[in-house]
Amino acid sequence: MREKDIAIWKAAKPYLDVRNNDEHTLHVYTLGQQLIEQEPEANADIILPSILLHDTGWKMIPQDKVLQAFGPNRKYPELQRQHELESVKIATGILENLGYSSNDIQQINAIIDGHDTTAEQRSINDGIMKDADKLWRYTPHGICIIAEWFGIDNMAVIDILVNFVRPQLLRKDSGHLADSLIRIARLKENMSTYLN
Ligand SMILES: [Fe+2]
Ligand SMILES: [Fe+2]
Repeated sequence: MREKDIAIWKAAKPYLDVRNNDEHTLHVYTLGQQLIEQEPEANADIILPSILLHDTGWKMIPQDKVLQAFGPNRKYPELQRQHELESVKIATGILENLGYSSNDIQQINAIIDGHDTTAEQRSINDGIMKDADKLWRYTPHGICIIAEWFGIDNMAVIDILVNFVRPQLLRKDSGHLADSLIRIARLKENMSTYLN
């Protein structure tokens, strides 16, 4: 992690101990860094703080409803919007405390606000954050957690990623990364066929 992001991470961490959001956030940060390296117009100083803070608001949602706020059989879709608004509040407090300018805070919040409830690339920074967030689902950690959340097997998660998530990715680089991760995930599931 970049030196200058460590203070944000430390302040965000107490809000990320629900829904595996701490490990999720670290994965999104790493994937975001890779997408940033490939886009000269990306602003890492806006994207990376927005990644660290984007899901802090889940902490404020009643914990028994969190897992029913998203996914195929969601019961409380309005909580998706609520976690964005709570994240904006928490992010504002943390960034003000750390002395970030109001201009930076406003740009970071513009990404956090709507990261799950808007589908389009509202700016290059926004597209990178949204794709990094979704690319987590393609990692070994993401596949395993999603399988657990919805009580399905890893192969079923892979099918969802290919058929439903892949078309939602906004940037070419993200598509390539997703395709590589899918190949590796399929290999992992099929490995025993070759070894036994
Ligand atoms: Fe989110
Ligand atoms: Fe997220």
